Amino acid sequence: MDVQQAINERRAYRSLEPVEITEKLVKDLAKNAQLAPSCSNSQPTRFIFVYAPASLKELHAALSPGNAWAQAASLIIVVFSKREDDCLIRDREYYQFDTGLATAFLILRATELGLVAHPIAGFSPKKTKEILGIPEEYKVITLVNVGKHSETISPVLSDEQVKAEKKRPKRIPLNKFVYFNHFQSKI
Ligand SMILES: Cc1cc2nc3c(=O)[nH]c(=O)nc-3n(C[C@H](O)[C@H](O)[C@H](O)COP(=O)(O)O)c2cc1C
Repeated sequence: MDVQQAINERRAYRSLEPVEITEKLVKDLAKNAQLAPSCSNSQPTRFIFVYAPASLKELHAALSPGNAWAQAASLIIVVFSKREDDCLIRDREYYQFDTGLATAFLILRATELGLVAHPIAGFSPKKTKEILGIPEEYKVITLVNVGKHSETISPVLSDEQVKAEKKRPKRIPLNKFVYFNHFQSKI
C-alpha cells in the first residue's frame, strides 16, 4: 500500500473486531511513529500500549459514555507528552503538534497493516493518568483505539455514529482552507 492509499483508506471506524496484538506489532507501530519529524528532533511523544485484557478493562473506566464502542478495541494506545520536552518559541508550543505528527504516522502504518486506529478526545485524562500511573506534568492528548474493522455495526453506536460507519463524514471544500500565495487569494 502506498501513502496515498493509506490516507484514502484510513477511517475512524467504530465497529471493531478483535485482533491479535503482539510485541512485534507494538514495536512496528512505535518504530513508524519514531520516524516522524519533530522540532529540533525533540521527540516529545510518549505512548503506552495497553493490550493486556485486565489492563484494557481497567482503562475502559476512562472512556466517555459516547465512546463505549472503544471497549471492543484490542489495543488502546495512550498518547501523551509535556510542553517542556519540545520547542517553546515565545507563544509557540510545539509538543502537541509534534505528538500529532507522530500519532498520524502510527495511524497510517496501522492502516497499511489492515487495522483501524481511531483517535479520540472523549476520555478522562485524570482517570487515565491515575489508572496508568502517568505523572501529573504530562498532558494525555488522545487514546488511539485499535482493532479490525467489523462489517457488523456495533450495537452501542448512536444514529450519527452509524451514519459515519457507512460514509466518511464530509470535509470542508478546498476553497475554505487553501490559499494561493496570499491570505486574500483562495482557490
Ligand atoms: C483529536 C481527535 C479527537 C476525536 N475524538 C473522537 C471521539 O471522542 N469519539 C469518536 O467517536 N471519534 C473521535 N474522533 C474521530 C473523528 O470523529 C473522525 O476522525 C472524523 O469524524 C472524520 O472521520 P474519518 O476519520 O472516518 O474520516 C476524533 C478524532 C480526532 C483526530
